[in-house]
Amino acid sequence: MKPVPSLKHHASSYPLDGDFHRYVVESMRSGVITIDKEGRITTINVVACRILGLERARAIGRHCAEILEDYMDIAQLLLDAFHKEYLPCRAEMEVKKKDSRGKTLGFTLSLVRNDENEVIGSAMFFKDLTHVEVIEEQERLKDRLMALGQMAAGMAHEIRNPLAGIEITVDLIKRKTKSKMPDLDEYLSSVVDEVRRLNRTVTDCLEFVRPLELELEPTDIGLLIDEVFASPGLVGDLSRVKINKELDDTVPLVMLDVHRMRQVFSNLISNACQAMPSGGELTVRISTAPAYVAHVMANMGKTAAKGGSPIREFDTYAVISIMDTGKGIAPDILDKIFHPFFTTKITGSGIGLAITQKIVDSHGGVIDIESTVGKGTTFHVKLPMVQAG
Ligand SMILES: Nc1ncnc2c1ncn2[C@@H]1O[C@H](COP(=O)(O)OP(=O)(O)OP(=O)(O)O)[C@@H](O)[C@H]1O
Ligand SMILES: [Mg+2]
Repeated sequence: MKPVPSLKHHASSYPLDGDFHRYVVESMRSGVITIDKEGRITTINVVACRILGLERARAIGRHCAEILEDYMDIAQLLLDAFHKEYLPCRAEMEVKKKDSRGKTLGFTLSLVRNDENEVIGSAMFFKDLTHVEVIEEQERLKDRLMALGQMAAGMAHEIRNPLAGIEITVDLIKRKTKSKMPDLDEYLSSVVDEVRRLNRTVTDCLEFVRPLELELEPTDIGLLIDEVFASPGLVGDLSRVKINKELDDTVPLVMLDVHRMRQVFSNLISNACQAMPSGGELTVRISTAPAYVAHVMANMGKTAAKGGSPIREFDTYAVISIMDTGKGIAPDILDKIFHPFFTTKITGSGIGLAITQKIVDSHGGVIDIESTVGKGTTFHVKLPMVQAG
């Protein structure tokens, strides 16, 4: 091994006390563990304790094999360092403590030498790379979803065409047998219903996996909400529901994809109506909130996400709150309601909120929920307010 120059003649340029060195080690953003030649732990900094879940007071002075019994690979590396020709630099290892998730550590091993250049210990410097790995995995997932989207588009085409063929053929048979065989007519009608249902599911699936390309335009959200209430696409009975609109006139036009956002509000208003089968109150409120507040709330909230939005710079959210006095959402399903195909309704497909979230995400927005069982639910859709122009 290449001899390391002695530090002795530099000693006078290090007029620093032991405390300073301790602070340096403590301030390092990497985990540090050192052992002496007997294998006893001489240093373990705060980051190392955090990454490995160890207690420093218990570790110092004890043998590394005892303290690192859940991480024998680390203890072994530290002990082996004394005999190795070559020490790993920027290497990676997987470690796993019993009953907890595994971690990926990036590490470098060194020998500790005294002024006489004698080896007196070994040291490991390491970082928890698990988070980096998660980000990489998310990127890979994005790529896979993209590929899946293309495959789904192809499959949807292959499924929809024969479905259309079946529907037309059944219609022809219906016409030929009409009034002659009323029983058959009923059966054929249910075939058509099922075919249409299948077609809807395929369309919904496709909608969910397909990457969204937004066509942004300056939009008056109040008018958009009025349009949604007037549209025939709303599911649920509005006749027993009292509708309140609390629109803030000062909210300027917002850049958004009108068609997609109409779908968002239609889904949320439909859900609200469906949650109040025997009537209630539905309030739509439009307001604004500073973006940092919205972000903090989103981070604390139950469901929120930032998407790869084309919208980048903004400091205010337009907040569209849809409040109902319906049955509410039980806490144990709150995490699931955005999952595709999760539904508690007999006739629901469970795709409404999944698509809603995807659209809001791609606008760079977030969705927060407040819900109390038996009292009602509020969905807050927060959209970056990028003014037109
Ligand atoms: N306002 C609400 N009040 C109570 N429960 C709700 C509300 N909105 C959504 N949910 C719950 O979330 C589930 C998922 O909603 P989502 O809109 O995704 O699907 P769905 O309404 O069941 O079916 P569809 O695909 O027809 O919209 C619902 O089945 C319901 O249990
Ligand atoms: Mg729905």
